[in-house]
Amino acid sequence: MTELLNRIPPEILERIGELDLDVESTNCLKAIEELLEKTVLDGGKRLRPMITFLMGRVLLEDLSVLDPFAKAIEMVHAASLAHDDVVDEATMRRGSPSINNVASNKRAVLAGDYLLADVIYNLSHQGDLKIVQKMSSVITDLAVGEWVQSDAIEQRAYTVEVIERIAFLKTASVMSWCTWVSAYKAGLGEDQCSTAYNVGKHIGIAFQMMDDVLDFSEDSKKDQLLDVKNNIVNSVILEWLELNPSKLKSYKDGEDLINLWSLDNIELAVSNVKQRATEHMSKAQSSLEDIIKLSPLGEPTASKNAQPMYDIMKFIIERSF
Ligand code: IPE
Ligand code: MG
Repeated sequence: MTELLNRIPPEILERIGELDLDVESTNCLKAIEELLEKTVLDGGKRLRPMITFLMGRVLLEDLSVLDPFAKAIEMVHAASLAHDDVVDEATMRRGSPSINNVASNKRAVLAGDYLLADVIYNLSHQGDLKIVQKMSSVITDLAVGEWVQSDAIEQRAYTVEVIERIAFLKTASVMSWCTWVSAYKAGLGEDQCSTAYNVGKHIGIAFQMMDDVLDFSEDSKKDQLLDVKNNIVNSVILEWLELNPSKLKSYKDGEDLINLWSLDNIELAVSNVKQRATEHMSKAQSSLEDIIKLSPLGEPTASKNAQPMYDIMKFIIERSF
């Protein structure tokens, strides 16, 4: 993590540090605010604001225009964590007790809802309906992602495509918004904004695959093997099942993953998933190259300013945090 932060321009770290992540509504119940602030709004890599600002640096002179959007997307991310910890019955998040564990499922759901409404309320005050609509689509995607995942758990109908769809809906939609909003605020046209959107989309899918990989690392700060316990076939588990056909058969016949779990072929499964994550990251890089050519700052400046974005892409596929 420190190694990553060393590569992020100090003025961006400062911007992220200064983002005020308090819940702003005047009618916010103190108890909800406190619960959110000691759980999902506390800590975290602030990767989504970072991606927003790093993309902004490629396209915009003045990054301050992105502050409200960087804040909004981090809060949507936080709300999605509150809901995800309920769905997954998590006990830990970022090395501390998760929100559902600190409070209860009921209160975690309500606090997450509250946070989402607060984001939309504040975003709507920016006065640009298109941005509000896009953010609403992200929130829809997050809900559909959990739903599709829940169907897949029940039906045991996982394929690489299903897993990528879930990764898009649950993770990449949020990161796509980050790269899209920077292009949109820079005044790029619709096609160009969708190229920018694709940068975040592929970063997000690669990020999710690496997140699945990290579940199998010793120093995971989440509940280790939570997906196995929840019978969720993530990208690594699917590879692992395919490399162990008798386990795949037992799983299809109704056996739970936790009863099948072993380390057989896990290293190969992890390395196959890393390979796929790398392919997505190459697609993100090639969309970024296209964006650099279109930047209002001119190609030479945009190209220089894009370096930390390339660094972050590289770190995501090499990361151990
Ligand atoms: C974790 O995201 C949840 C996913 C969407 C995979 P992060 O690993 O970015 O979470 P924090 O914000 O840094 O804890
Ligand atoms: Mg989860």
